[in-house]
Amino acid sequence: MPADRVPADRVPADRVPADRVLADRVPADRVLADRVVVISGAGPGLGRGLALQCARAGADVVLAARNEARLAEVAKEVAELGRRAVAVRTDITDEASCRELAETALESYGRVDGLVNNAFAMPPLTDLATVDLDVVRAAFETNLLAALRLTQLFAPALAERGGSVVMINSAVLRHSRRTFGVYKITKAALLALAQSLATELGPQGIRVNSVAPGYIWADNLKRYFDYLGRSRGVPAQQVYDEITATLDLRRLPEPDEVADTAVFLLSPLARAVTGQCLDVNCGEWHH
Ligand SMILES: NC(=O)c1ccc[n+]([C@@H]2O[C@H](COP(=O)([O-])OP(=O)(O)OC[C@H]3O[C@@H](n4cnc5c(N)ncnc54)[C@H](OP(=O)(O)O)[C@@H]3O)[C@@H](O)[C@H]2O)c1
Repeated sequence: MPADRVPADRVPADRVPADRVLADRVPADRVLADRVVVISGAGPGLGRGLALQCARAGADVVLAARNEARLAEVAKEVAELGRRAVAVRTDITDEASCRELAETALESYGRVDGLVNNAFAMPPLTDLATVDLDVVRAAFETNLLAALRLTQLFAPALAERGGSVVMINSAVLRHSRRTFGVYKITKAALLALAQSLATELGPQGIRVNSVAPGYIWADNLKRYFDYLGRSRGVPAQQVYDEITATLDLRRLPEPDEVADTAVFLLSPLARAVTGQCLDVNCGEWHH
C-alpha cells in the first residue's frame, strides 16, 4: 500500500472528529516521520536547507553531491537533529555513479519515499544568440538529464512506497531577462519533465511536482548584495530594501522556507497534488 495512505481502521475515529483525522495522524512537525528522502546537492544553500528541513520533519536522508567535506558537514547537522543521513559521493551526470547512489540508498534503508532533484549547474550568463552550443549541452546534462536519470533509477523503489519526486526549479521560468537564456531553457525543460513524469508515473502512485524559488536569502546572495552595495557606495541593507520594495511580503525567502515547500510536496499533506509547480518568492511573481 502506498505510504501516503493509512488504512481507516488505524485511525481512532471514535475519539477524533472526522475533520481532525488528518491533523491527528500527521502532526505538522512530523509530516515526513520515518520516511527516507534522497536529495541531490548538499548545499551550501538550498541543498543543506532541504536536508535539515526534511530531518526536522522526521525523515532520514540520503545526500548526493561531489564535495565530500560538505556532504559530511551536512550529514553531521542532520545527525544532530536525531535523524540518519547517508552521504554518498555522487556525480549526477555519471550513470555509474548514480546507480551506486541508488544501490547505497536501498541497502542503507531498504526503501525510498522521496527524491528531491535539487543539484544544478549555473551556466555562464550569456546570450543564446551567440552561445557556444557545448555550453548549452553541458547545462542540459546537469539541470535536466541528471534529474531524469535519478528519477528513472529511483522510480521502482518510489512506486513501492507511493513516493514522491520534487524538482527544484527557478523563477527564471517567469521572466526572459537577457543572459539568463541558457539557464531558463534548462529549467523550462525541467518543468516539462516534471509534468510529463507526473502523467507517466501517476498510475504507479508516484507524484511529481516542482518548486520554483526566486531569490534565496542565503550566503551567496548576501555576498552579492554586499558587493552591489560596495560598488554603489551604499549599505547592503539599501540594496535589500530596494529589491524587496516591490515584493508582496517586502522580504526574501530563506532556504528553510523554500525547503518547507518541498517538504509539503513530499508529505501526505500533498497526497492529491501532482504535476504542479509551487512558486516560493514572497510574492515577487504571481503564477
Ligand atoms: N540560489 C538561488 O538563489 C536559487 C534561485 C532559484 C532557484 N534555485 C535552484 O535551487 C537549487 C539549489 O540552488 P542553490 O544555489 O541553493 O545550490 P545548493 O543547493 O547550495 O548547491 C548546489 C548543489 O548542487 C550540487 N551539484 C552540482 N553539480 C553536481 C553534480 N554534477 N553531481 C552532484 N551534485 C552536483 C553541488 O554539489 P557539488 O558541487 O559538491 O557536487 C551543490 O551541493 C537549484 O536547482 C537552483 O536552480 C536557486
